[in-house]
Amino acid sequence: MNNREKEQYLREYHVLKSQGKPFFPYAVLKDSAMACLVLVVIIAMAIIFGAELGPKADPSTTTYTPRPEWYFFFLFELLRVVKPPALVFMATVGIPTICMVLLILLPFFDRNPERNPLRRPIATLAGITVIAAMAYLTIEGAVAGSPTEIEMKVPHSLEPGKAVAASSGCLGCHKIGDNGNSGPGPQLTKIGARLPRQAIARTLINPTPPMPTYSKLRQQNPKEFNELVDFLSSLK
Ligand code: HEC
Repeated sequence: MNNREKEQYLREYHVLKSQGKPFFPYAVLKDSAMACLVLVVIIAMAIIFGAELGPKADPSTTTYTPRPEWYFFFLFELLRVVKPPALVFMATVGIPTICMVLLILLPFFDRNPERNPLRRPIATLAGITVIAAMAYLTIEGAVAGSPTEIEMKVPHSLEPGKAVAASSGCLGCHKIGDNGNSGPGPQLTKIGARLPRQAIARTLINPTPPMPTYSKLRQQNPKEFNELVDFLSSLK
Protein backbone atom coordinates (compact mmCIF):
# COMPACT_ATOMS: atom_id res chain seq x y z
CA MET A 1 0.00 0.00 0.00
CA ASN A 2 1.54 3.35 -0.95
CA ASN A 3 1.10 6.58 0.97
CA ARG A 4 -1.64 7.95 -1.22
CA GLU A 5 -3.73 4.81 -0.84
CA LYS A 6 -3.11 4.82 2.87
CA GLU A 7 -4.32 8.39 3.22
CA GLN A 8 -7.39 7.69 1.17
CA TYR A 9 -8.13 4.63 3.26
CA LEU A 10 -7.76 6.56 6.50
CA ARG A 11 -10.02 9.33 5.17
CA GLU A 12 -12.72 6.84 4.18
CA TYR A 13 -12.38 5.08 7.50
CA HIS A 14 -12.72 8.36 9.36
CA VAL A 15 -15.88 9.31 7.42
CA LEU A 16 -17.44 5.90 7.98
CA LYS A 17 -16.58 5.99 11.64
CA SER A 18 -18.03 9.45 12.18
CA GLN A 19 -21.29 8.45 10.52
CA GLY A 20 -21.12 5.29 12.62
CA LYS A 21 -23.68 2.69 13.35
CA PRO A 22 -24.12 1.58 16.96
CA PHE A 23 -23.53 -2.10 17.70
CA PHE A 24 -26.84 -2.20 19.51
CA PRO A 25 -29.34 -2.52 17.95
CA TYR A 26 -27.81 -2.44 14.45
CA ALA A 27 -25.39 -5.41 14.48
CA VAL A 28 -27.27 -7.28 17.20
CA LEU A 29 -30.46 -7.19 15.15
CA LYS A 30 -28.71 -8.46 12.03
CA ASP A 31 -26.99 -11.28 13.91
CA SER A 32 -30.18 -12.28 15.70
CA ALA A 33 -32.12 -12.39 12.46
CA MET A 34 -29.50 -14.64 10.86
CA ALA A 35 -29.32 -16.89 13.92
CA CYS A 36 -33.13 -17.29 13.85
CA LEU A 37 -33.04 -18.12 10.16
CA VAL A 38 -30.40 -20.83 10.66
CA LEU A 39 -32.41 -22.27 13.55
CA VAL A 40 -35.62 -22.32 11.51
CA VAL A 41 -33.84 -24.11 8.64
CA ILE A 42 -32.45 -26.75 11.00
CA ILE A 43 -35.85 -27.28 12.66
CA ALA A 44 -37.54 -27.49 9.25
CA MET A 45 -35.00 -30.04 8.03
CA ALA A 46 -35.41 -32.10 11.20
CA ILE A 47 -39.20 -32.12 10.67
CA ILE A 48 -39.07 -32.85 6.93
CA PHE A 49 -36.16 -35.29 6.72
CA GLY A 50 -36.23 -36.57 10.29
CA ALA A 51 -33.22 -37.00 12.52
CA GLU A 52 -32.31 -40.64 12.38
CA LEU A 53 -30.78 -42.41 15.36
CA GLY A 54 -28.40 -45.19 14.40
CA PRO A 55 -28.81 -48.68 15.75
CA LYS A 56 -27.88 -49.25 19.38
CA ALA A 57 -24.22 -49.92 20.05
CA ASP A 58 -23.50 -53.65 19.99
CA PRO A 59 -20.19 -54.51 21.65
CA SER A 60 -20.24 -58.08 20.32
CA THR A 61 -20.49 -57.23 16.64
CA THR A 62 -17.64 -58.22 14.34
CA THR A 63 -19.04 -56.73 11.15
CA TYR A 64 -19.36 -53.11 12.28
CA THR A 65 -17.82 -50.70 9.82
CA PRO A 66 -16.44 -47.71 11.70
CA ARG A 67 -17.01 -44.46 9.81
CA PRO A 68 -16.22 -40.91 10.87
CA GLU A 69 -18.80 -38.14 10.73
CA TRP A 70 -19.04 -36.59 7.26
CA TYR A 71 -17.06 -33.47 8.18
CA PHE A 72 -14.07 -35.68 8.96
CA PHE A 73 -14.23 -37.63 5.70
CA PHE A 74 -11.34 -35.59 4.26
CA LEU A 75 -9.07 -36.57 7.16
CA PHE A 76 -10.33 -40.14 6.98
CA GLU A 77 -9.48 -40.23 3.27
CA LEU A 78 -6.01 -38.79 3.94
CA LEU A 79 -5.42 -41.51 6.51
CA ARG A 80 -6.68 -44.10 4.04
CA VAL A 81 -4.48 -43.05 1.09
CA VAL A 82 -1.31 -42.31 3.01
CA LYS A 83 -0.02 -45.82 3.66
CA PRO A 84 3.66 -45.48 4.71
CA PRO A 85 3.55 -45.23 8.53
CA ALA A 86 6.34 -42.62 8.51
CA LEU A 87 4.12 -40.22 6.52
CA VAL A 88 0.84 -40.82 8.36
CA PHE A 89 1.56 -38.36 11.15
CA MET A 90 2.69 -35.65 8.72
CA ALA A 91 -0.36 -36.10 6.48
CA THR A 92 -3.07 -36.30 9.11
CA VAL A 93 -1.78 -34.05 11.88
CA GLY A 94 1.08 -32.07 10.34
CA ILE A 95 -0.55 -30.68 7.20
CA PRO A 96 -3.91 -29.72 8.79
CA THR A 97 -2.06 -28.08 11.69
CA ILE A 98 0.21 -26.11 9.36
CA CYS A 99 -2.87 -24.97 7.40
CA MET A 100 -4.60 -23.82 10.59
CA VAL A 101 -1.53 -21.95 11.84
CA LEU A 102 -1.20 -20.24 8.44
CA LEU A 103 -4.86 -19.25 8.62
CA ILE A 104 -4.45 -17.79 12.12
CA LEU A 105 -1.34 -15.87 11.04
CA LEU A 106 -3.00 -14.65 7.83
CA PRO A 107 -3.70 -11.10 9.07
CA PHE A 108 -0.01 -10.73 9.97
CA PHE A 109 1.59 -11.80 6.71
CA ASP A 110 -1.12 -10.70 4.28
CA ARG A 111 -1.22 -6.90 4.66
CA ASN A 112 -2.94 -6.34 1.33
CA PRO A 113 -5.73 -3.76 1.81
CA GLU A 114 -7.62 -4.93 -1.30
CA ARG A 115 -10.91 -6.68 -0.63
CA ASN A 116 -11.92 -7.52 -4.17
CA PRO A 117 -11.14 -11.25 -4.67
CA LEU A 118 -10.04 -10.57 -8.26
CA ARG A 119 -7.31 -8.19 -7.07
CA ARG A 120 -5.98 -10.77 -4.62
CA PRO A 121 -5.14 -13.64 -6.92
CA ILE A 122 -2.86 -15.54 -4.53
CA ALA A 123 -5.26 -15.48 -1.59
CA THR A 124 -8.21 -16.29 -3.84
CA LEU A 125 -6.41 -19.16 -5.55
CA ALA A 126 -5.14 -20.56 -2.25
CA GLY A 127 -8.66 -20.42 -0.78
CA ILE A 128 -10.24 -22.11 -3.78
CA THR A 129 -7.53 -24.79 -3.86
CA VAL A 130 -8.00 -25.65 -0.19
CA ILE A 131 -11.80 -25.84 -0.54
CA ALA A 132 -11.52 -27.91 -3.74
CA ALA A 133 -9.00 -30.29 -2.15
CA MET A 134 -11.19 -30.75 0.92
CA ALA A 135 -14.28 -31.28 -1.22
CA TYR A 136 -12.46 -33.85 -3.34
CA LEU A 137 -11.11 -35.72 -0.29
CA THR A 138 -14.55 -35.58 1.37
CA ILE A 139 -16.22 -37.15 -1.66
CA GLU A 140 -13.50 -39.79 -2.00
CA GLY A 141 -13.78 -40.55 1.71
CA ALA A 142 -17.56 -40.82 1.50
CA VAL A 143 -17.51 -43.37 -1.32
CA ALA A 144 -14.40 -45.22 -0.12
CA GLY A 145 -14.62 -48.96 0.22
CA SER A 146 -15.25 -50.03 3.78
CA PRO A 147 -12.31 -51.26 5.83
CA THR A 148 -13.98 -54.67 5.54
CA GLU A 149 -12.88 -54.80 1.93
CA ILE A 150 -9.52 -56.16 0.87
CA GLU A 151 -8.05 -54.17 -1.99
CA MET A 152 -5.74 -56.70 -3.55
CA LYS A 153 -5.51 -58.45 -6.91
CA VAL A 154 -6.11 -62.19 -6.66
CA PRO A 155 -6.96 -64.84 -9.25
CA HIS A 156 -10.66 -65.17 -9.91
CA SER A 157 -10.92 -68.51 -8.09
CA LEU A 158 -9.72 -66.90 -4.84
CA GLU A 159 -12.16 -63.96 -4.85
CA PRO A 160 -14.74 -65.80 -2.68
CA GLY A 161 -12.11 -66.55 -0.03
CA LYS A 162 -10.95 -62.95 -0.11
CA ALA A 163 -14.53 -61.83 0.50
CA VAL A 164 -14.87 -64.21 3.45
CA ALA A 165 -11.62 -62.89 4.96
CA ALA A 166 -12.80 -59.33 4.39
CA SER A 167 -16.16 -59.87 6.10
CA SER A 168 -14.88 -62.01 8.98
CA GLY A 169 -13.18 -59.24 10.91
CA CYS A 170 -9.64 -60.54 10.35
CA LEU A 171 -8.56 -57.02 9.32
CA GLY A 172 -9.35 -55.75 12.79
CA CYS A 173 -6.24 -57.55 14.06
CA HIS A 174 -4.23 -58.51 10.99
CA LYS A 175 -2.69 -56.77 8.04
CA ILE A 176 -3.18 -58.33 4.60
CA GLY A 177 -1.19 -56.40 2.02
CA ASP A 178 -2.04 -52.73 2.59
CA ASN A 179 -5.33 -53.56 4.30
CA GLY A 180 -6.18 -53.84 7.96
CA ASN A 181 -4.42 -53.10 11.23
CA SER A 182 -0.87 -54.08 12.01
CA GLY A 183 -1.77 -55.57 15.37
CA PRO A 184 -2.36 -57.39 17.65
CA GLY A 185 -2.11 -60.28 15.19
CA PRO A 186 0.87 -60.88 12.89
CA GLN A 187 0.92 -59.83 9.22
CA LEU A 188 -0.87 -62.31 7.00
CA THR A 189 0.49 -60.90 3.73
CA LYS A 190 2.78 -63.92 3.27
CA ILE A 191 1.07 -66.38 5.59
CA GLY A 192 0.91 -69.03 2.83
CA ALA A 193 4.70 -69.11 2.70
CA ARG A 194 5.01 -69.34 6.47
CA LEU A 195 2.34 -71.92 7.30
CA PRO A 196 1.08 -74.94 5.36
CA ARG A 197 -2.62 -75.07 4.51
CA GLN A 198 -3.33 -77.52 7.33
CA ALA A 199 -1.72 -75.30 9.93
CA ILE A 200 -3.71 -72.27 8.78
CA ALA A 201 -6.94 -74.23 9.09
CA ARG A 202 -5.87 -75.43 12.52
CA THR A 203 -5.12 -71.85 13.65
CA LEU A 204 -8.60 -70.75 12.59
CA ILE A 205 -10.30 -73.58 14.49
CA ASN A 206 -8.05 -73.56 17.51
CA PRO A 207 -6.36 -70.16 17.74
CA THR A 208 -4.31 -68.66 20.52
CA PRO A 209 -6.32 -65.93 22.26
CA PRO A 210 -7.10 -63.08 21.73
CA MET A 211 -7.83 -64.41 18.24
CA PRO A 212 -11.42 -65.73 18.20
CA THR A 213 -12.12 -69.23 16.92
CA TYR A 214 -13.72 -69.67 13.52
CA SER A 215 -14.80 -73.28 14.13
CA LYS A 216 -18.41 -72.11 13.89
CA LEU A 217 -17.76 -70.98 10.33
CA ARG A 218 -16.42 -74.43 9.48
CA GLN A 219 -19.48 -76.15 10.99
CA GLN A 220 -22.05 -73.83 9.50
CA ASN A 221 -20.43 -73.08 6.19
CA PRO A 222 -17.62 -75.49 5.30
CA LYS A 223 -17.47 -74.13 1.75
CA GLU A 224 -16.73 -70.59 2.93
CA PHE A 225 -14.25 -71.91 5.46
CA ASN A 226 -12.34 -73.77 2.74
CA GLU A 227 -12.42 -70.75 0.44
CA LEU A 228 -10.96 -68.68 3.29
CA VAL A 229 -8.16 -71.16 3.88
CA ASP A 230 -7.49 -71.37 0.11
CA PHE A 231 -7.17 -67.61 -0.02
CA LEU A 232 -4.82 -67.48 2.98
CA SER A 233 -2.57 -70.27 1.71
CA SER A 234 -2.27 -68.44 -1.62
CA LEU A 235 -0.68 -65.42 0.13
CA LYS A 236 3.00 -65.91 -0.56
C1 HEC B 1 -9.14 -60.24 17.91
C2 HEC B 1 -8.02 -60.21 17.03
C3 HEC B 1 -7.92 -61.23 15.91
C4 HEC B 1 -8.84 -61.52 14.94
C5 HEC B 1 -10.21 -60.90 14.75
C6 HEC B 1 -8.24 -62.49 14.07
N1 HEC B 1 -6.99 -62.78 14.54
FE1 HEC B 1 -5.71 -64.11 13.68
N2 HEC B 1 -4.41 -63.81 15.22
C7 HEC B 1 -4.55 -62.89 16.23
C8 HEC B 1 -3.40 -62.97 17.10
C9 HEC B 1 -3.16 -62.10 18.33
C10 HEC B 1 -2.57 -63.98 16.58
C11 HEC B 1 -1.25 -64.46 17.15
C12 HEC B 1 -1.58 -65.57 18.14
C13 HEC B 1 -0.33 -66.20 18.66
O1 HEC B 1 0.31 -65.56 19.49
O2 HEC B 1 -0.03 -67.29 18.22
C14 HEC B 1 -3.23 -64.50 15.40
C15 HEC B 1 -2.70 -65.47 14.59
C16 HEC B 1 -3.23 -65.83 13.36
C17 HEC B 1 -2.61 -66.74 12.44
C18 HEC B 1 -1.28 -67.45 12.65
C19 HEC B 1 -0.22 -66.51 12.18
C20 HEC B 1 1.18 -67.04 12.36
O3 HEC B 1 2.07 -66.40 11.80
O4 HEC B 1 1.34 -68.03 13.08
C21 HEC B 1 -3.42 -66.83 11.34
C22 HEC B 1 -3.20 -67.65 10.09
C23 HEC B 1 -4.54 -65.97 11.59
N3 HEC B 1 -4.39 -65.38 12.84
C24 HEC B 1 -5.57 -65.77 10.70
C25 HEC B 1 -6.72 -65.02 11.00
C26 HEC B 1 -7.83 -64.92 10.10
C27 HEC B 1 -7.90 -65.54 8.71
C28 HEC B 1 -8.75 -64.19 10.73
C29 HEC B 1 -10.15 -63.84 10.24
C30 HEC B 1 -10.96 -64.94 9.79
C31 HEC B 1 -8.22 -63.79 12.02
N4 HEC B 1 -6.97 -64.32 12.14
C32 HEC B 1 -8.86 -62.99 12.94
C33 HEC B 1 -5.61 -62.03 16.41
C34 HEC B 1 -6.78 -62.05 15.65
